[in-house]
Amino acid sequence: MKIPITRSEAIELLKSQNPETFDFIHYLMSEAVMKEVAKKLGEDVESYGMLGLLHDIDWSITKTNLSTHLSKAPGILKEKGFDEEFIKTIVSHGYGFEEIPSLNEKKRATKAEHILAACETLTGLIYAYALMRGKKILGMEIKGLKKKFKDKAFAAGCRRDIILEIEEAGLTLDELFEAAIEGIKNIKHDIGLE
Ligand SMILES: [Fe+2]
Repeated sequence: MKIPITRSEAIELLKSQNPETFDFIHYLMSEAVMKEVAKKLGEDVESYGMLGLLHDIDWSITKTNLSTHLSKAPGILKEKGFDEEFIKTIVSHGYGFEEIPSLNEKKRATKAEHILAACETLTGLIYAYALMRGKKILGMEIKGLKKKFKDKAFAAGCRRDIILEIEEAGLTLDELFEAAIEGIKNIKHDIGLE
C-alpha cells in the first residue's frame, strides 16, 4: 500500500467537501485509533492512519443518498494516486450494509479490512461514552467501555458485530479497546474532549 499524499493534503481534501464538525471528528478519531492499532500489530502506521482518515472520503457528498455512499470514493482516491489495495480496503468498510445494496452481499477478507471496519465503528461507541462522561476521555477504562459495548441499548446504531471483527485480525476486544482509548487520548484537544 503506497501513500501518495501527505497528511495535510489529506486533511485539505476532506475539508474541500465542507464536512460537518461531527463528521470531521469521526475521521480524526478513526485515524487515531487505526494508528494505535497499527503500532500494536506492527503494521505500517502511516498507511493505517490514512485509511482511517480517508475511509469516508465521499461521505459529505453522498450522505443525503446513503445507497451511493462509497461509490464516489474510488474515483476521488484514484485521482490522488492511491492504489487498488488502498481503495478496496476503504470501500470494504461498507460491506454488509443493507443501506448500500451494491456492497451488502460482500464480505471483508483481509486483515486491514477487518481492522478498518472495527476501528471506525468503535469510534462511535467511544465518542458517545465520552460525551456521557462530560466530554471526557481521561479516566475512561476498558472495563467501562466493555459495559457500554455489552449494553445494546447504548449507542444502539453502533454495530457490535463489526467491532468484533477485530478478532479476525488477531487482536482481542480488550486489546482493541486499550489501543483505541490510548489513540483518542492523543488527539483529545483536536476533537473537543478532555
Ligand atoms: Fe466512518
